[in-house]
Amino acid sequence: MRLLWWSVIIQIMASVMEKLITPLATAPELPTNKVTVVGVGQVGMACAVSILLRDLCDELALVDVIEDKLKGEMMDLQHGSLFLKTHKIVADKDYSVTANSRIVVVTAGVRQQEGESRLNLVQRNVNIFKHIIPQIVKYSPNCTLVVVSNPVDVLTYVTWKLSGLPKHRVIGSGTNLDSARFRYIMAEKLGIHATSFNGYILGEHGDSSVPVWSGANVAGVSLQKLNPAIGTDQDSENWKDAHKMVVDSAYEVIKLKGYTNWAIGLSVADLTESLVRNLSRVHPVSTMVKGMYGINDEVYLSLPCVLNSSGVASVVNMTLTDQEVAQLKKSADTLWSIQKDLKDL
Ligand SMILES: *[C@@H]1O[C@H](CO)[C@@H](O)[C@H](O)[C@H]1NC(C)=O
Ligand SMILES: *[C@@H]1O[C@H](CO)[C@@H](O)[C@H](O)[C@H]1NC(C)=O
Ligand SMILES: *[C@@H]1O[C@H](CO)[C@@H](O)[C@H](O)[C@H]1NC(C)=O
Ligand SMILES: *[C@@H]1O[C@H](CO)[C@@H](O)[C@H](O)[C@H]1NC(C)=O
Repeated sequence: MRLLWWSVIIQIMASVMEKLITPLATAPELPTNKVTVVGVGQVGMACAVSILLRDLCDELALVDVIEDKLKGEMMDLQHGSLFLKTHKIVADKDYSVTANSRIVVVTAGVRQQEGESRLNLVQRNVNIFKHIIPQIVKYSPNCTLVVVSNPVDVLTYVTWKLSGLPKHRVIGSGTNLDSARFRYIMAEKLGIHATSFNGYILGEHGDSSVPVWSGANVAGVSLQKLNPAIGTDQDSENWKDAHKMVVDSAYEVIKLKGYTNWAIGLSVADLTESLVRNLSRVHPVSTMVKGMYGINDEVYLSLPCVLNSSGVASVVNMTLTDQEVAQLKKSADTLWSIQKDLKDL
């Protein structure tokens, strides 16, 4: 009788959890594919969602300075857990939440104000990055940094300087998106899927990017062989317009909806896939180009890079025309003229 009572009491005291689950493994393990997104604005959240939907991480961490927005975004994503395979989604303004990340995507920063010089904008972002980057590296010394904030090439250089990481582990999203837009627009004109039009936009992200017409092809068939004037002012078919559309399209989307986010988010997830899964795929991303194509300054520009788990495994040495090399050098000079005047790096 006494014995029965005891067992009833024990059963009452044991929680539902204890009655339901018998633990076997003990030590909690560190995440193997943790991704952090810094900045939960439109771009940061598009990156986060794209990465989640492609099952690229076992833990996602979000960081921002606006605490309410940050917590709201975290909770909203957590409520989608039923439909995701990332079991842990965390957020905090304290960078300890990012510990042991493999990939850190940086989307934080301020935007250009009307009439503000580019140097002034960059300097304001340098002051912000001075707080962000050392914290990231402190908690994830072995991570690969993917910089998305604009102006991306300068801020990737700034991040590299502030991080102290080797150059192959600091990457800028660069012309990865410009190239994706180019491939979409060209493929639409040809009536094929974007993956089947091969072509690169390199150099500086934005207005002065360089379309490499000499390499544009479908199924290995060079478009320049079919139309030697392609991409030039002499081309009666005016294919050059496709590059102009790439440059203008960002402004058009911003004019229409206020910002761009989906395509950049998807393109960053694609980079993340190559990095996390050690795929060695080639992507046009911003990398340190000192010593290449006669560039002597420490600048980041986009070239086709092989990305694996180590970051930038190698850079493809493109056979560029003299004019294309001249354009790259001009971008390098422009970037350096801004970088050399930055303070506190
Ligand atoms: C970083 O990588 C090195 C070398 O692979 C390793 O010894 C070290 O434990 C790693 N540090 C962290 C914090 O993961
Ligand atoms: C990464 O991929 C390369 C082949 O591209 C392979 O040699 C290497 O062992 C892989 N590394 C890891 C850690 O899986
Ligand atoms: C690329 O290869 C060419 C030869 O094909 C060589 O002349 C040039 O120096 C190489 N460029 C770089 C950046 O290594
Ligand atoms: C990535 O590629 C580089 C260059 O081929 C190689 O040294 C490195 O070991 C690779 N990383 C991994 C994780 O396999």
